[in-house]
Amino acid sequence: MSRGAFITFEGSEGCGKSTQVLRLAARLEQAGGRVLITREPGGTAIGEKIRDLLQFAPESFAMTPETELLLFEASRSQLVRETIRPALEQGTVVISDRFFDSTTVYQGIARKLEPDIVAALNNFAVGPNRPDLTIILDVDVATARARMLRRVRPVAVVDRMEQEPIEFYERVCEAYRELATREPGRFLLIDGAQSPDEIENEIWDAVSKRFPMFTVPEKSQIENRKSKMSRARLCPST
Ligand code: TMP
Repeated sequence: MSRGAFITFEGSEGCGKSTQVLRLAARLEQAGGRVLITREPGGTAIGEKIRDLLQFAPESFAMTPETELLLFEASRSQLVRETIRPALEQGTVVISDRFFDSTTVYQGIARKLEPDIVAALNNFAVGPNRPDLTIILDVDVATARARMLRRVRPVAVVDRMEQEPIEFYERVCEAYRELATREPGRFLLIDGAQSPDEIENEIWDAVSKRFPMFTVPEKSQIENRKSKMSRARLCPST
């Protein structure tokens, strides 16, 4: 069986990536593909506990940047081995809402931890399982902050990762743009200020060109659909 495809979404908080993850998955499924959506931190039972600890647990406000880095990597190494690798081996298209580029950007650049250590830990966590395509939704900090503030959360739930000063998110946005120029073959930088429909179409164009095997329905599926349609026309009551 041929390997699936691994697509990741990146961008600052409020860039609109979660919406686009769902839209891309729906279109791939319509084209007959098998799709798995996951996210970081999280995506496994262990990872979701780590997500809670990183973002929402009251104790997390005492967390050092080094502990934070190691927890993101712990969540990632579990997700890669428990979920992503087996799915790719079965020919599934895996879409992840964030992956190791988030660590390069948030912990390496925005938190200013040693980039070589961040790169080494990223490599250790993912091994050979690297994204085939990474879509970055690029929005300016003001738009991202405004969208972040509109998010509805239960009262008293505070996301620690959303409490940083504006300069932190400026470094995040700038670092993503810089990353996109470093590896143009893997990254697709999209203007996140466009409408959700425009973004969806731009993503679909790029994904169709890159992965025709997952975006064009197989001949047998087209025949199947055609015969269902003509059957429906012949027997409209059934
Ligand atoms: P989100 O996926 O809902 O945007 O929340 C994840 C938060 O965690 C977000 O603030 C970015 C941050 N993050 C890191 O700082 N490093 C990482 O490696 C990952 C995956 C996320």
